[in-house]
Amino acid sequence: MIRIDSVTKRYPDGTVAVDRLSLDIPDGAITVLVGPSGCGKTTTLRMINRMVEPSDGTILIDGVDSRQQPVNTLRRGMGYVIQNAGLFQHRTIVDNIATVPRMLGWSKDKARARARELMERVGLDASFAKRYPYQLSGGQQQRVGVARALAADPPVLLMDEPFSAVDPVVRKGLQDELLRIQDELGKTIVFVTHDIDEAVKLGTMVAVLRTGGRLAQFAPPAELLSDPADAFVEDFLGADRGIRRLSFFSSAGLELLTAPVVAVDATAEQIAARGADEAPYVLVTGLDGRPLGWSEPERLTAGQIDVGRLLPCGRPFVAGQDSLRAALDCAVLSPTGWAVAVDDEGRAAGVVSQASIADAIRGAHAAGRAEPRTTGAGAEKVIR
Ligand SMILES: Nc1ncnc2c1ncn2[C@@H]1O[C@H](COP(=O)(O)OP(=O)(O)O)[C@@H](O)[C@H]1O
Ligand SMILES: [Mg+2]
Repeated sequence: MIRIDSVTKRYPDGTVAVDRLSLDIPDGAITVLVGPSGCGKTTTLRMINRMVEPSDGTILIDGVDSRQQPVNTLRRGMGYVIQNAGLFQHRTIVDNIATVPRMLGWSKDKARARARELMERVGLDASFAKRYPYQLSGGQQQRVGVARALAADPPVLLMDEPFSAVDPVVRKGLQDELLRIQDELGKTIVFVTHDIDEAVKLGTMVAVLRTGGRLAQFAPPAELLSDPADAFVEDFLGADRGIRRLSFFSSAGLELLTAPVVAVDATAEQIAARGADEAPYVLVTGLDGRPLGWSEPERLTAGQIDVGRLLPCGRPFVAGQDSLRAALDCAVLSPTGWAVAVDDEGRAAGVVSQASIADAIRGAHAAGRAEPRTTGAGAEKVIR
């Protein structure tokens, strides 16, 4: 849909902000432009909707040179979201969101009905409709910004550091919400950030830019993490690249042991059988199957298991849904060094040792099978 073909931007003072950049931006996915401050991200984004005109090269939208379209038509197809949302302070939330539909000539009632529908879509309570922007938190304002950009249902969203000014917890919520919206609506999103974690989390494709507006690498995030193109990309990805890459490997291949799991009402024979197993610890579950804690088998007395004396089992991982990174994290945090796996209803599905997680990691690396991500929902599940 959007093809950036050898585009250069030279500002009048001679600054080369973008240097012969070529990118094919896939339809219906999130493409992230990431790189240090001043590397030309905003300039690139603004060339897509012609807020900035390229000095050289062409941008094709659906195969048509963007300069051949009237600028208003071009921009109507592209919602634009910026940091701090950029809301109209003197308009209510519902009227902020209804801005573009009103400009397109929709009646006030129809535009407001659409605005209310979008408030729900971005997770804003209907009671905010009549408030003014200053009466909302930064994160809520950012949601309004997203709703406003979606109002006329444009196929493309351009987002320039939309979540950079909010605190980490709110930011995570906004990111999850964006993945969900993308999954539901299938928009083509070009998302600018300087935060590599955000890029890896959100991007189906990630373009890493270096100072001077040159492309360092354009790849799916799993590939960036496994095969950074050069030292610049490697540095930019940071020190824990190997651990972060595990987010892209599913825990589905882990072999779960069910033998070391007993219920709180276990008989003497059941406990004795566990003691004969190779696992040094036993996981005790409630009658509902939920994990309660760990114990050495010889400390358990049939019929009188003292739940208060069990070692805590910490947060389990969801077998097959969570990533190898989540499983490893559980094992590392567990007092026994064993991770607890649960099914999606929270019942113990088995246990797995650090050693067998390490085996699975080696196997996954050998097979090179980082899971491809095409949609947001999948990404949300794999990354934790
Ligand atoms: N209007 C302008 N005139 C001259 N230089 C500019 C202008 N806008 C941006 N620049 C320069 O172009 C480079 C890229 O800027 P920008 O695209 O805003 O980077 P980023 O968004 O990655 O931080 C920077 O060196 C910046 O100073
Ligand atoms: Mg910028």
